[in-house]
Amino acid sequence: KNTVKIGLLGCGTVGGGVIIVLNENKEDIARKAGCAVEVKTVLVRDKSKLKPEIEKYNIGYTDNLDDILNDPEIDIVVELIGRVHPAKEYIEAALQHGKHVVTANKDVLAEYGKSLFALAAEKQLDFQFEGAVGGGIPIIRPLRSCLAGNKISRVMGIVNGTTNYMLTRMTEAGLSYENALKEAQAKGYAESDPTADVEGIDAARKITVLASLAFNTALTLKDVHIEGIDNVEACDISYARELGYVVKLLGVAKNDPENGITANVYPVMLPKNHPLASVNDVYNAIYVNGDAVGDAMFMGRGAGRLPTASAVCGDIIDTVRNICHNACGRVSGNLFVEKKMCPPEK
Ligand code: HSE
Repeated sequence: KNTVKIGLLGCGTVGGGVIIVLNENKEDIARKAGCAVEVKTVLVRDKSKLKPEIEKYNIGYTDNLDDILNDPEIDIVVELIGRVHPAKEYIEAALQHGKHVVTANKDVLAEYGKSLFALAAEKQLDFQFEGAVGGGIPIIRPLRSCLAGNKISRVMGIVNGTTNYMLTRMTEAGLSYENALKEAQAKGYAESDPTADVEGIDAARKITVLASLAFNTALTLKDVHIEGIDNVEACDISYARELGYVVKLLGVAKNDPENGITANVYPVMLPKNHPLASVNDVYNAIYVNGDAVGDAMFMGRGAGRLPTASAVCGDIIDTVRNICHNACGRVSGNLFVEKKMCPPEK
């Protein structure tokens, strides 16, 4: 192939970022991918709402998914519309039509990762989702591949950029909860419904995905105990500070012989010298403990247009390489497979 063409579902914060990165780094990406990569068609509900910086690129737009599904020139569908429905149905339709899928949709993965993975494996198609957790931080591929030789006992960290940004601003600038949230929304970090961020649901979805990969299981959101920061007040933060602690929202997933697999999201007071205590603003950080590697920490920008686009573009390039080398679908199997009980059956 000379050019691999993409159908992009959604052109919001991240979708726009993907268009920018693929166009601005076009030559470099073509060299790395082994052929040119082009967004051919974008599915949008209302073209008049497109951001002006996207309009300058020469891309086709449609409001009909069939235009993408039935286009034989399009090999990869990149789903960035967010939320569970209709994103899940669109991903399924894309796989059914023989398209490789890249998504950053943790909502869908946390509920339907298992069945979508099975479908992709059955069809021998690539199904990639590096952007679903940790924004620009490489964490999915490390868990799937680089650390696969380990027995992993714990995955823990800051996995929501909005709440980490809010807690940082409340701590350092004394902002109220409401103003901190407004700032996070203005920066494009928050979900379209920010209650998912502040109530810990977004972090729980991400820990569901991480735990499923780390422990080779298939957790869903129901398996996670969730507490958000909606009850954290400015005075909690300043009292903690006086005592030498900082408040962080953590996702913690463990696999131990006593309790089996457990997954939790909750705000904690961390001592100021804890490595996670200095992870501020929109940064996320994920600690993994494996029996061979020991501790490994992954850190970077956990939300926002270009960081998340960075992860999505990495998935696209990987898929393009697989297409060019006839290697698609080979890494799809054996993930999200085995459901372990938490706690284990006695
Ligand atoms: N709302 C999410 C966050 C976006 O703040 O982390 C990235 O998944």
